[in-house]
Amino acid sequence: MMTSPDLPAELKAALDGKLRGFSRSDAASRSATISKTYRDGGGSGGIRSEADALAYALARMPATYAAVTASLNALIEIRPDFAPKSLLDVGAGPGTATWAAAEAFPSLQDFALLDANEALRALALGLVTDSFRLRDVSYERGEARTALAKSDAADLVVASYMIGEISDAEQRALAELMWEKTRDTLLVVEPGTPAGYARIIALRERLIAMGAHVAAPCPHDGKCPLQPPDWCHFSQRLQRSRAHMQVKGAEVPFEDERFAYVALVRAPVAQRLSRVLDQPAISKVEINAKLCTPAGLAFTKVPRRDKAAYASARRWRWGDAVV
Ligand SMILES: C[S@@+](CC[C@H](N)C(=O)[O-])C[C@H]1O[C@@H](n2cnc3c(N)ncnc32)[C@H](O)[C@@H]1O
Repeated sequence: MMTSPDLPAELKAALDGKLRGFSRSDAASRSATISKTYRDGGGSGGIRSEADALAYALARMPATYAAVTASLNALIEIRPDFAPKSLLDVGAGPGTATWAAAEAFPSLQDFALLDANEALRALALGLVTDSFRLRDVSYERGEARTALAKSDAADLVVASYMIGEISDAEQRALAELMWEKTRDTLLVVEPGTPAGYARIIALRERLIAMGAHVAAPCPHDGKCPLQPPDWCHFSQRLQRSRAHMQVKGAEVPFEDERFAYVALVRAPVAQRLSRVLDQPAISKVEINAKLCTPAGLAFTKVPRRDKAAYASARRWRWGDAVV
């Protein structure tokens, strides 16, 4: 079962509830400032007040939720039997990855979040108050490494759009600590930029050297076969609500979020399916698809005369795992 990339109704209602009493134009200008800080390479340090946190959540939570959900859907496809009971959400912010994991895994019972930002922590706790499953989350405020060192290990550890906010040296230390706290699966999601991909690849290499295996997106634990300027990333479409459109000054009711991710697991993966790395080009003669296969990169042509193969390749989408 694939989880929808759109925010669950309960979270949408909680966000709408928070938005009452806030001016949309104020939220839009705060969100523009926050987005500019991100584009200029800054982080979420500028989010200080309740209004800033809400503006951030309105502008970015739908997209980061969609990216985490797409990554979890890919993980579940490879490991359909994975039923984590506990979650650790590192750099949880407004709780985006926690909501996404709760939707994707009905088995989750314990939710532990941690983050340095008090305004985002307060918003996250405000958003879960009416949620039967999430109202008892624990949310530690503190610097990631210090808070993680004190955390219990969890079946699923997630860091969503977080590692880009810390230095390379800190990323290395945090990666090792997150892996230490991972009983089964560690999911790291980043923006789908060359820099986001580079961070994912560095963490992937480091943790494979420590015994991790890749569940998704890669069908192998070897070196990434892509050569710069190419980079591995995916795209998830999500619907924009009216409030979301107003805050972003957007004109179309949807958005495509580009993201990069890796899901690392403790036990080797039995099923090694190829990953579709771009939207395949379909012509009347053939389908051209770029695949990452267990044996490396492949530019596959599926001719129309091979009816069964062509029919199945027509359904391939960027990001799919295919035989
Ligand atoms: C871009 S936000 C992402 C929030 C959330 N994970 C999401 O996907 O929407 C990055 C988060 O990482 C947190 N963060 C950055 N550096 C941190 C650190 N050293 N320790 C704890 N949290 C940190 C920020 O406070 C912020 O909440």
